[in-house]
Amino acid sequence: MKVKYRHTCIVTEDWKKLSGFYQNVFGCIPVDLEIDLKGEWFDKLTGLEDAHAAGERLLLPGHDPYGPYLDIVSYDDMVVNEVNKINSQKGYAHLCFEVDDVEATYEALKAEGGSANGEVVTQYYPELDKTAHLVYAKDPDGNSVEILAWSDFKDRYPNDSCVYRHTNINAVDWQKIVDFYSVVFGCSPVFPTRDIKGQWFADVTGVKDAALKGQHTELPGFAKPPTFEIFTYENAYQDKAKAINETGVAHVCFEVDDVQLMLAKALAAGGSPVGETIKETFEDDGRSIEMVYFKDPEENIIGLLNITSGGN
Ligand SMILES: [Fe+2]
Repeated sequence: MKVKYRHTCIVTEDWKKLSGFYQNVFGCIPVDLEIDLKGEWFDKLTGLEDAHAAGERLLLPGHDPYGPYLDIVSYDDMVVNEVNKINSQKGYAHLCFEVDDVEATYEALKAEGGSANGEVVTQYYPELDKTAHLVYAKDPDGNSVEILAWSDFKDRYPNDSCVYRHTNINAVDWQKIVDFYSVVFGCSPVFPTRDIKGQWFADVTGVKDAALKGQHTELPGFAKPPTFEIFTYENAYQDKAKAINETGVAHVCFEVDDVQLMLAKALAAGGSPVGETIKETFEDDGRSIEMVYFKDPEENIIGLLNITSGGN
């Protein structure tokens, strides 16, 4: 089966403002596609009534012209909650951009309405034999964003100054969630696994006594794959499951060649359905899609999309 990681979606009260932030700070590039979703098919897909979402699709930096994307949308009727401000929050917790200049990016973030979410640290990782210079920050909505520079960044990305590297998922059981994404989507776990603790980690996350175990797993469809960073914090802050139209990092999406086969695999591996499968053809550009949302075993929402013709 063909699979490609497609996008990470943030729900916000003001998509124009938040989209401008990700363009100005991280060099995300708007894709020529208006997000304006409504109709019976969108209600079935989301399980909502009279749903309408509008927003913008951004190309994340450092990859190919076909993604991964960052979709930033506002629903007319949203569940507005304080978004993930705590780095140990369960669920989709942060996006990570690797950059050549952490300080300059951090200053740009603050100038564009972002703020601190911990301290800047430099830390040697013995298991990887390299040094990370990093800080966690908040976007203007309070979503956590990691700004990172590994000591070998320029060796790996000689032509880039900013690259989207991962979407972080905090899990109750990281091994179970890593296995789920391997079985269902063919993600490739990256070794060594992580075992992170110490004062520097409490400083960088802003979480008292922060300690975690976890693993990265490579997302399908890329020459230099971004990853899901799947962590389990000790004493994690647990939250209720998020609604699909709730503010914050709301869902991720994979493009697949067979939506029903992938959904069946996901449900067999412990996933659960969200809305209904929809098939829709858009009159403006002739694009036909099949799509469905489901939840992974820890209630993170995932979209499956097949585009049968036209557009992106
Ligand atoms: Fe991270």
